[in-house]
Amino acid sequence: MEAGEIIRLLNEDYVKEIETTLIYVRNAFIMPRCDPSRVTEAIAIDEMRHMNWLAELIVKRGGKPGMEHNELDFGGDDLKGQLEKQKALETDAIERYKKHIEMIDDAEVVGVLKHILDEEKRHRKEFRIRLEKISP
Ligand SMILES: [Fe+2]
Ligand SMILES: [Fe+2]
Repeated sequence: MEAGEIIRLLNEDYVKEIETTLIYVRNAFIMPRCDPSRVTEAIAIDEMRHMNWLAELIVKRGGKPGMEHNELDFGGDDLKGQLEKQKALETDAIERYKKHIEMIDDAEVVGVLKHILDEEKRHRKEFRIRLEKISP
């Protein structure tokens, strides 16, 4: 795979990490309950670390990290909607990283993406547990 194509895929992941970071930072402030709010805040910080790792890979291959994010969907103003949205974002991320790991033949990139994938799986579990607590 050419460097340009790797950069394009990494930028796709990068923009999604920006969107996820922004959504989680906002929701952490809105959430009325302490525990889901703190978990969301901590995970927002993980997503920002993912942004940094991806930006580093992009720049190292001669690209520039893109900033063109889409309009944000926060999942509404209630806790259940927000947690459902956040769980869905993690599912999307898991599917996308799995696909990119299959496609990309650069060992360093694949190593980082696998690490991120493990964290996204943990995030989805954290949100699932909070969802079960409010609607068993
Ligand atoms: Fe992430
Ligand atoms: Fe995540």
